[in-house]
Amino acid sequence: MTITLRVRRSDPARGERPAWRSYRVELRPKMSVLDALFAILEEQDATLAFRYSCRAGMCGSCAMVIDGREGLACQARFEGARRSVVHVEPLRSLPVLRDLVVDMGPFFARYRAIDPFFVGEEPSLGQPPGDPAVVDPDAGVRPLVSRQIDCIACGACLSACPTVAMNDAFLGPAALNRAFALTNDARDRAHRLRREAIYGEGGVHACHSVGNCARVCPAGVDPLLSIRMLRAHAPE
Ligand code: SF4
Ligand code: FES
Repeated sequence: MTITLRVRRSDPARGERPAWRSYRVELRPKMSVLDALFAILEEQDATLAFRYSCRAGMCGSCAMVIDGREGLACQARFEGARRSVVHVEPLRSLPVLRDLVVDMGPFFARYRAIDPFFVGEEPSLGQPPGDPAVVDPDAGVRPLVSRQIDCIACGACLSACPTVAMNDAFLGPAALNRAFALTNDARDRAHRLRREAIYGEGGVHACHSVGNCARVCPAGVDPLLSIRMLRAHAPE
């Protein structure tokens, strides 16, 4: 049995405009969309560009739009597919470098805007650092945050978000989700620093609550929930 993969291809550096190209691929058991892209690369067209690393749904680098919906190519399988034609496109709202490879720069620039790293207590000069802080597993906020820290920075939510597409200043679901996770870490010392980004022009109030982010996230994160929680604690 074969399947037709229609791939949205382009090479902006060479002035090539996006165009659909069709490839027929022999289906193998448990074949993923990433496997099919490899089959094209190895057997039909060595110029096809796509990104991958872990092939196990962990690294997020193979995120793309498959039949109109964001997902991980290494996790999307053809089994049970009713259609014999599958469309594959690069992520939206990010510049295309070539074929299915996008520039993740604008995604990480948004991420950086909220200072996405943990800022701990500075140890006093000449003193050894104290014991690691203990986070109570029974703390009320813990189950909520546990789910939200699973982000693999794949960019699928940014691609699926219509507000990102309309508003360049919007920080987007992944960055605000990360801000929420850090805001709920009692050990973190940078809450004040992040407040301006979270509640500023491109922050949580710019979100239109469409919720595509939660629907497409391959890691089960719900960025809209994080945005709602941040909104609920907005300064007066
Ligand atoms: S929140 Fe989900 S969809 Fe968005 S970048 Fe993280 S893992 Fe990807
Ligand atoms: S290759 Fe790592 S998530 Fe698909």
